Amino acid sequence: MEKFKKIPEHIAIIMDGNGRWAKKRNLPRIFGHREGAKSVKEITKACAEIGVKYLTLFAFSTENWKRPDNEIKFLMNLLNDYLKKEEKTLLNNNIKFDTIGDISKLPEKIQKKINRLKKITKNCKRMTLILALNYGARNEITNAVKKISSLVKKGELKISEIDESTISKNLYTAKYPDPDLLIRTSGEVRVSNFLLWQIAYTELYISKVLWPDFRKKELYKAIHEYEKRERRYGGL
Ligand code: IPE
Ligand code: IPE
Ligand code: MG
Repeated sequence: MEKFKKIPEHIAIIMDGNGRWAKKRNLPRIFGHREGAKSVKEITKACAEIGVKYLTLFAFSTENWKRPDNEIKFLMNLLNDYLKKEEKTLLNNNIKFDTIGDISKLPEKIQKKINRLKKITKNCKRMTLILALNYGARNEITNAVKKISSLVKKGELKISEIDESTISKNLYTAKYPDPDLLIRTSGEVRVSNFLLWQIAYTELYISKVLWPDFRKKELYKAIHEYEKRERRYGGL
């Protein structure tokens, strides 16, 4: 097995380039999403194997609702299938399942499957897989502001007591450490409203490889690059 000197405890990935992968092959975009789902499975397993503790995957953003209805429908069906079929793999690999984002806007049958998967994997210990679904960082921060304001209004929190940890604790990611490594595939160099607060000191890695082609070997390359980074957090 591949050897590493340093493993990121938390990896976050903006899985991008499915549409372009299909386009290059003169196929409809949905073929790229279908192939991309295979990368999700391979990368999840690979991360668990090498000792990553948290893997956060950006699967559907608050902005992705702007896409054509048929593409959204396909993505929801793909998610529904994934939730149904991955149950065994997650349990066999001792992987806990969680989500971030507002899942109340997703089709009801998907919400049910999500809740079921969370429940049956809740004691899994090797790694936590966190799917970002209908997730947007600005929406997350806005919600945090609302929650904190209502605590202040009820007299349960003083303004002077608000610090950075108050914000962190009111985000979807409250239970999780900030990502050590953020990977974006397909060569786009932007954050696209993902984890804005949490990536303040995350190492960034952009891969030119399109998500459906991003498999084990590409993941290892990203981690080897991470090993070389010197994280100073503003110190010396
Ligand atoms: C990422 O691939 C998947 C989602 C955003 C759901 P895209 O669908 O964005 O593929 P490109 O960027 O158009 O190639
Ligand atoms: C970001 O990719 C969202 C996900 C990977 C789910 P997009 O393809 O939606 O982002 P933009 O439009 O290139 O910024
Ligand atoms: Mg894209």
